[in-house]
Amino acid sequence: MKINGKTRVCGLIGNPVEHTLSPLIHNTLAEQLSHNLVYVPFLTEGGEKEVKRAVEGAYALNILGMNVTVPHKEHVLAALKEMDPLAEKIKAVNTLVRIPGGYKGYNTDIMGLHRAMESEGIYLEGENVILLGAGGAARAMAFLCAECKAEKVYLLNRTYEKAAQVADEVNRKSGTDCVIPMDLSDYRSLPDKRFLAVQCTSVGLYPDTEKAVIYDEAFYRKIHTGYDVIYRPANTRFMRLVEEAGGRAYHGLKMLLYQGIIAYELWNGMKVSEETAEKIYKRMKEEMGIEA
Ligand code: ATR
Repeated sequence: MKINGKTRVCGLIGNPVEHTLSPLIHNTLAEQLSHNLVYVPFLTEGGEKEVKRAVEGAYALNILGMNVTVPHKEHVLAALKEMDPLAEKIKAVNTLVRIPGGYKGYNTDIMGLHRAMESEGIYLEGENVILLGAGGAARAMAFLCAECKAEKVYLLNRTYEKAAQVADEVNRKSGTDCVIPMDLSDYRSLPDKRFLAVQCTSVGLYPDTEKAVIYDEAFYRKIHTGYDVIYRPANTRFMRLVEEAGGRAYHGLKMLLYQGIIAYELWNGMKVSEETAEKIYKRMKEEMGIEA
């Protein structure tokens, strides 16, 4: 593809941005689909005020769309013209889509996690779910579980107060009582059932690859499927513990793939085929040095 007068620009605002895989995802998509589009990282320092200036500047420069990463997913809310209802509930935005007069905010992280799970045959409806953690990722996941009508969602966190706060907010906003907060150390009192577990803490992230929040084999025997939102490393201790106890385990790289694909679809008003998604995923795995 030639960069010329018609090239559209998309980008990523965050701090830091050096290690992101998003340029690989979007530039490969543009190449595969023969779109005249480039995607670049924009290091954005500061807080809400600076992010607002960056978003206004992006609009003035006719930038088609932006991704937003840490620490700006909440800072960016004040700079938006509109918000998708799911992003509004979660109060975190990672994708900006150009509309007349500004940008509309979406949370494709959570939409991506949903699509990744479904692509692996994991469905939330009627499921008994364990969520480990009560930070941004767990909160978004709890909203998704409520939205998809999970049976029960046990939200386990080291700091119980945070779990209680998240559970209360999700139940209230979703008109349900399915989210149950628990202290992480009380995991033995989980009901005697088989669960889908989603690991949403930062524990086990590179370079602490030998760590997990729980090591007890009895806990892992209750898990039929374990999903770790971490993808660096691609085989976390949590995943290994799930597999050793007989469950299926997945890492978070597909979530990253689909959050990018959904953003790209929103920017370009089209649908990316599964065949193209597979090609992008292969490139991502090569970049990460993952074999399977
Ligand atoms: P994110 O936005 O990626 O979810 P976060 O908001 O920083 O990240 O949340 C990190 C989560 O990992 C929290 O639930 C945190 O537990 P606390 O609320 O008790 O801090 C959890 N976490 C981090 N380190 C942990 C550890 N060593 N053991 C147990 N939980 C841990």
